[in-house]
Amino acid sequence: MSNRDNPILAERNLALELVRVTEAAGLAAARWIGRGDKNAADGAAVAAMRSAFDAVAIEGTVVIGEGEMDEAPMLYIGERVGAGGPAMDIAVDPLEGTSIAAKGAPNAIAVIALAERGNFLHAPDIYMDKIAVGPGLPDGVVALDAPVIENLRNLARAKKCDVADLMVCTLERDRHAEIIARCREAGARITLIGDGDVSGVIAVAQPEAGIDIYLGSGGAPEGVLAAAALRCIGGQMQGRLLYENDEQIARARTMGITDPNRIFGLTDMARGDVMFAATGVTSGPMLRGVRWSHHGAITHSIVMRSRSGTVRTIEATHNFQTKPWIPA
Ligand code: FBP
Repeated sequence: MSNRDNPILAERNLALELVRVTEAAGLAAARWIGRGDKNAADGAAVAAMRSAFDAVAIEGTVVIGEGEMDEAPMLYIGERVGAGGPAMDIAVDPLEGTSIAAKGAPNAIAVIALAERGNFLHAPDIYMDKIAVGPGLPDGVVALDAPVIENLRNLARAKKCDVADLMVCTLERDRHAEIIARCREAGARITLIGDGDVSGVIAVAQPEAGIDIYLGSGGAPEGVLAAAALRCIGGQMQGRLLYENDEQIARARTMGITDPNRIFGLTDMARGDVMFAATGVTSGPMLRGVRWSHHGAITHSIVMRSRSGTVRTIEATHNFQTKPWIPA
């Protein structure tokens, strides 16, 4: 049996192929760092990611993408990508943190997750209420519906520390005033992030990030991407869609969500064998951003597979002379 025909080896190769795709998006977006044009940064990342998929040996269908077919020219929901191979569902965010990239602020990344067909929650582009903690804690130590103070006390007890030792991460938004007030009343510390809750959630599973719990609402598609990463590195997460009108409820129904108030756990959002890859565009606790040298660009990426639990960080130097496809 050749490596190509062996499903386990093919899957291993695929995980590494994914990094090329996030690297391409990251490199393209990096040209726009701090230039104040988030749409141009996003557009460059989308085009580069779309074109890099042409070399990946999958028959992929975008289930989390840039929007509906009539609103996104590329990587729209339902778009088929890949060079042919196993049927996979794809969740992408070519530039997670468009505003931060446009400002040159920390933590913009290019992200992909992959699973066998039918294994990702088809999340509409609306808000999702999220809670996440890292691995090695008792099941159900925190819950989306529990009061903030109760979650913090239970987490501190499980971690054998005081609530004052805990670091909460949330997006800095007016809608989070209540969560922030409750955390401060309880004595917990808070890291407020400007954007980018995929890495905010993943940080709970990365001891070096120093985040104990993620709380608050952000994009539902970003929730699925973060869930895919936690499936690979461990941790607990719950999410519930937040609707602003009946149209959004109807839209969720058309995407297969029959109970609009359902609380989704990790495996409701990302089931089966999952692969996740991300490349830093601007530097953050998880990844360093793209850096230019006189002859090329250096990228820093992470690849994870749930089947093996392996996490690889990959630093790559891309030579402008030999890789003319890199946007110079
Ligand atoms: P974009 O990359 O689409 O700009 O999303 C950035 C982000 O911060 C996400 O990480 C987060 O889920 C969402 O926006 C939060 O939405 P809002 O800015 O409306 O609070």
